Amino acid sequence: MESALMSEDPFKLSLGNFIANESDDPLQAPPSFTNWVRASAWAAELYEPEMLATADARTTIRYDGKPLSVINLCSYNYLGLANHPEVIASAHEALKTHGLGACGAPVLSGMTNLHRELERRVAKFLGREDAMLFNSGFGGALGTVSGLLRKSDVAILDNRSHLSLRDGAILSRCRTEKFEHNDPNSLDTALNRQKGRRQLVIVEGLYSMDGDFGNLKELIAVTDAHGASVFVDEAHSMLACGKNGRGAAEHFGVEDRVRLVYGTFSKAFGALGGFVAGPKDTIEYLRFYAHPYVFSCALPPVVVAGILKALEIGTKQPELRTKLWENADYFHAQLRSLGIDTGTSTTYVIPIVIGERERMYRLCHELRRRGLWVAPVDYPAVPLNRVCFRACVTAKHTRADLDEALNILEDTLVPAALQNA
Ligand SMILES: Cc1ncc(COP(=O)(O)O)c(C=O)c1O
Repeated sequence: MESALMSEDPFKLSLGNFIANESDDPLQAPPSFTNWVRASAWAAELYEPEMLATADARTTIRYDGKPLSVINLCSYNYLGLANHPEVIASAHEALKTHGLGACGAPVLSGMTNLHRELERRVAKFLGREDAMLFNSGFGGALGTVSGLLRKSDVAILDNRSHLSLRDGAILSRCRTEKFEHNDPNSLDTALNRQKGRRQLVIVEGLYSMDGDFGNLKELIAVTDAHGASVFVDEAHSMLACGKNGRGAAEHFGVEDRVRLVYGTFSKAFGALGGFVAGPKDTIEYLRFYAHPYVFSCALPPVVVAGILKALEIGTKQPELRTKLWENADYFHAQLRSLGIDTGTSTTYVIPIVIGERERMYRLCHELRRRGLWVAPVDYPAVPLNRVCFRACVTAKHTRADLDEALNILEDTLVPAALQNA
């Protein structure tokens, strides 16, 4: 029987619509999904853009079949370390000494002296007893949460939590509770509702879609009052926030109240992978119970060597963070003066809210044609009336880059907003 979704307006549908079975064969994509993707191909082609150069402040992508030079507001390369000459040189050197891959899971065969060195350096940087590395940030968050929680526990997650954290809780088969984003009263209610169980409150240092900080001080105070534990995902904040780069917990002065820290190497470190740092016993336990660690190949040594250098530069050159924040503050102030809605963002991750799907995709093409690369963020990643472009500012953007980006945004969005008023 043909699905009713086949004849729906594609912009009335979203990924949430295609999770029911439409055939007896699990290997067959739902025909209504395939139909939807084809019907909205002009919008879908904005995803998975091909980059033809480094993730620098200006780069080249393929657009409309041709190389296009763009201002890059799409990258997590917050401190410019992904293409820093010293980082590249370290990776080159490790390629000669250690080859391309680790060729084994860390527990049995994938651990090199470079991995051990990075574990020690991360632990020392964060003032923790020990640290362990994951080959992916997603796997690290999922593995840590699922490795720690048991069926009788409860995970209490901010309702804007990253999927890696939610999936980790689901995998552990524990109960899950959500609380309203950053709301201490809602967290208090959730903790009260789940009294009598081991409770892990899961929050983020900096939310990757909204670009606001986790309300760490108040949420941790509530967590402490209930005798619960807290886990902070510092994926987007590590190395880029706090005076010394130790993330949102340093920024808010609550490091001593966060026993287990998690971060990724894919953002400000400019590489790939993740880590968790904390008490030796907890890390030792996780080395056996975090499945993405135990049963998956270790990070390539060439990447580890690059991360070691990125950590060194990121800690020795605080001016990179200063520049990142100056750029973020400048961009925010200019967007505000243009009347552009950036939601609750206060950081270098800046949603530019459009609020209407088809219009967002049309405008995103227009921005790209004019040489500005921003990412479309659609429902269900954000609420339907908050669909947006996500713009990430980095330390490598010059004032000229930002001003040119702002001119393009003004020319494209401001008349469009007036037309639609
Ligand atoms: C909060 C959060 N946690 C985990 C991850 C996963 O990290 P990675 O991209 O390094 O796998 C992300 C990625 O964006 C994230 O935003």
